[in-house]
Amino acid sequence: MAQIAHTVRVALGERAYDILIGDRLLDDAGAILLERFAGRRYGIITDENVARAQLPRLLQSLDAAGLEHAEIVLPAGEATKSFGQLQTAVEGLLAARLERGDLVIALGGGVIGDLAGFAASITRRGMDFVQMPTSLLAQVDSAVGGKTGINSPHGKNLIGAFHQPKLVLVDLSSLDSLNARQFAAGYAEVVKYGLIDDEEFFFWLEQNQAEIFAGGPARGEAIARCCRQKARVVIADEKELGVRALLNLGHTFGHALEKATGYGDRLLHGEGVAIGMVLAHGFSARLGLAPSQDTGRIVQHLQKSGLPTTLGDVPGDLGSTEDLMAAIAQDKKVSRGALTFILTRGIGKAFIEKGVDAVAVARFLDDVRG
Ligand code: GLY
Repeated sequence: MAQIAHTVRVALGERAYDILIGDRLLDDAGAILLERFAGRRYGIITDENVARAQLPRLLQSLDAAGLEHAEIVLPAGEATKSFGQLQTAVEGLLAARLERGDLVIALGGGVIGDLAGFAASITRRGMDFVQMPTSLLAQVDSAVGGKTGINSPHGKNLIGAFHQPKLVLVDLSSLDSLNARQFAAGYAEVVKYGLIDDEEFFFWLEQNQAEIFAGGPARGEAIARCCRQKARVVIADEKELGVRALLNLGHTFGHALEKATGYGDRLLHGEGVAIGMVLAHGFSARLGLAPSQDTGRIVQHLQKSGLPTTLGDVPGDLGSTEDLMAAIAQDKKVSRGALTFILTRGIGKAFIEKGVDAVAVARFLDDVRG
């Protein structure tokens, strides 16, 4: 059996579950599932890239444990978070004759986790599912906490449901097949946890960044710390009525940039978040809330991690500030027309600010665009 290096409990009462973190856990997935969920069959939803890199290991371990399974392989990429691919996933589960008591496995990054979780939430009025995140972004953020859904032409994640997984299996070795750019994009979400409310963690990241990128023990430790923090926030506010919104630090700007760049290769989600976090800190400094040297320290760390930090780092045209503002207004962190932003008083001191003045945001964007 592979070693489970860290176990994080998401203590949500009857929806409680464990996050198991360790090297090569996919090789033991069959045995782990058999021990926890006797008598189930499995519908694996994955994408073409992950199917090549990771699916054979999972299938081998399910077979070795004598577990029955079906596979649904979708195209890779953000465009998969659509009604069309959701239908393919749901019909695939039904065609495989999976029943309500069976389990869906989401094997992949954030796109697959969000879509497969949503498919599980609506198939036969709700099936259980297991997250097996294979990207850094999914391991530290999207696979934990039960946010599932797809995108709309109106914006990201505007269609979905809260549906908690029954288990999250984080196989650290699956990160070895990520390219440097994808890894760095996921790392933006790691940095986010330090910026929200844990300056000591941000300092630790500054010290340990090289080891995290090289795949040393600090990598597993960083992922476990993020999962612990995410679990704490989700336990406190499962449905994002309050503090959970802090996890959206950098995301309102980031989502607008993703929309402006067509949700594609021009700007990965984590890259949008990296720029968004710098903008959120810069805007807070502009309002006199946060020290501007903190923005500089963040920029330095993100740049060292190979991440973009300014609008000018995004290749191609971003459209007008009005278009960016329209995207910001459509983001779901809007309540009755007032902009809700995650602002900050400095590293580790983020807070939720409702009723942010849209004109001030537009002016700030115009200024940073030069
Ligand atoms: N990714 C933000 C959240 O789960 O709330």
